[in-house]
Amino acid sequence: MKRPYAYIAGTGRGVPSKVLRNSDFASLGLETDDEWITSRTGIRERHIGTDTENLTWMSVKAARQAMSRAGVSAGELDLIVLGTVSPDHLLPSTAVEVQAALGAGRAAAFDLVAACSGYVYGITVAENMIQAGSAETVLVIGGEKLSSIVNWKDRSTCVLFGDGAGACVLRRSRSGAKGILSTYMRSDGNLARLLWRPAGGGASPATEAAIADGSYWIHMAGREVFKHAVRSMSEAYDRALDLAKITSSQVDLLIPHQANLRIIEATAKHAGLGMERVFVNVDRYGNTSAGSIAIALDEAIEQGRVKEGMTVALVAFGAGFTWGSVVVRF
Ligand code: ACO
Repeated sequence: MKRPYAYIAGTGRGVPSKVLRNSDFASLGLETDDEWITSRTGIRERHIGTDTENLTWMSVKAARQAMSRAGVSAGELDLIVLGTVSPDHLLPSTAVEVQAALGAGRAAAFDLVAACSGYVYGITVAENMIQAGSAETVLVIGGEKLSSIVNWKDRSTCVLFGDGAGACVLRRSRSGAKGILSTYMRSDGNLARLLWRPAGGGASPATEAAIADGSYWIHMAGREVFKHAVRSMSEAYDRALDLAKITSSQVDLLIPHQANLRIIEATAKHAGLGMERVFVNVDRYGNTSAGSIAIALDEAIEQGRVKEGMTVALVAFGAGFTWGSVVVRF
């Protein structure tokens, strides 16, 4: 297969200003502490959106920055794909709210539900649409307002998550030098109940009882998720490299999903990469699900960790289970 068909022309991020530190949970009445959270997850703080800093707000902020860096105007967008599991409304998609706010009059827009793999899945769909000739310029966003769907009384989940969005503009490649070298996606719905919201959808609508008994919020079997996460991240890394016909020694930077430092370290070890070739910001954001790799890629570029000519691997896993990867040359 001839590649690349598409390249990343610009990135951006939109993050709420309020920071919630580990030490702040005590004032929320939760029995937890900085030592427990840091030693098990590597998370020190996370951003939490206000009512006005909703997913549309974060996504539009990220999108405007990505479009400005790509030199792309709203009228040039053919498609907007927004990976999220915490949309502003269940109907319609948040992607159409973003489309309206940007004034992207020609763009089709939809949300994509793949949990923490949402951004990698989104890039894959966008690249395939470009390859098929259905689009030239696509805005891909990954973002979440997880603070609105976590149970703030459940210390085993609420300390892990945060809010934020990142975006990139994908354009058709004109030269073969840079762009997406491979993409890989998988899922296993047999694992769906390990990380889910039992109530709130059509099968079990939102009721006062569902909110009171906690089934409306995120539920997670942490240890099981951990095991599958390491396995699927490692597999996704290997497959994307195989498909790109490169070896680990040719990867300049791994940007893994930022859920837990121990999962990131295990993935790096599997890949045979020293941590100096792995991007980590989970300490400052927690797990922002679909926002995670999108924010991390934008920060990595801004910090000069990604430079022209470098090869970068994006590796994700999330609820579903879903997992996937992208290898891209900048
Ligand atoms: N503070 C203090 N104690 C806590 C906390 C907390 N915040 N949370 C749980 N505990 C307690 C538990 O109650 C338990 O106590 P017990 O032994 O008396 O019952 C004890 O700590 C140990 O709990 P475990 O769940 O066994 O702890 P573990 O070492 O497995 O770490 C963790 C838990 C951090 C959640 C880990 O399993 C993990 O990171 N799993 C992966 C989670 C993940 O990555 N999720 C994101 C998936 S991606 C997506 O799609 C959103």
